Amino acid sequence: MTDAVSALPIVLASDHAGVTLRREIRGHLEAAGHAVLDLGTEGPESVDYPDFADRLAAAILEGRAARGVLICGTGIGISIAANRHRGIRAALCHDATTSRLSRRHNDANVLALGARVIGAEVAKDCVDAFVGTAYEGGRHAARVAKLG
Ligand code: RB5
Repeated sequence: MTDAVSALPIVLASDHAGVTLRREIRGHLEAAGHAVLDLGTEGPESVDYPDFADRLAAAILEGRAARGVLICGTGIGISIAANRHRGIRAALCHDATTSRLSRRHNDANVLALGARVIGAEVAKDCVDAFVGTAYEGGRHAARVAKLG
């Protein structure tokens, strides 16, 4: 297994629908001792989720962060946008089990959450599973390599 948690910060970004949950997750991660790089958005003004997926993808692909959490209303749009970047493997999860397996089997480097479809406690469980689970490699490695 590879290391479960990198020394690099965990990068966060969301659109307007995800601001409240993102702040809650930021506090949760910081309370657990993780360094966080928060890329916004900052207010309730309507913004376009692909812009924030692009920002977060750039932070990971440039080596400023190892893993990230993206949030929009459903998690759908922002995960689609993130997965357009080669090297980003964004997993839209609604529970800790899928979040944990996205790390073990898919080496997901981005967790996408829907602020309007899951509660804050479930979201925090997803985040804990995501940052605390290592990639298994082995039989999964060739499959993940085919993702590009
Ligand atoms: C914004 O209203 C909403 O469409 C967005 O947050 C997201 O749910 C899109 O997938």
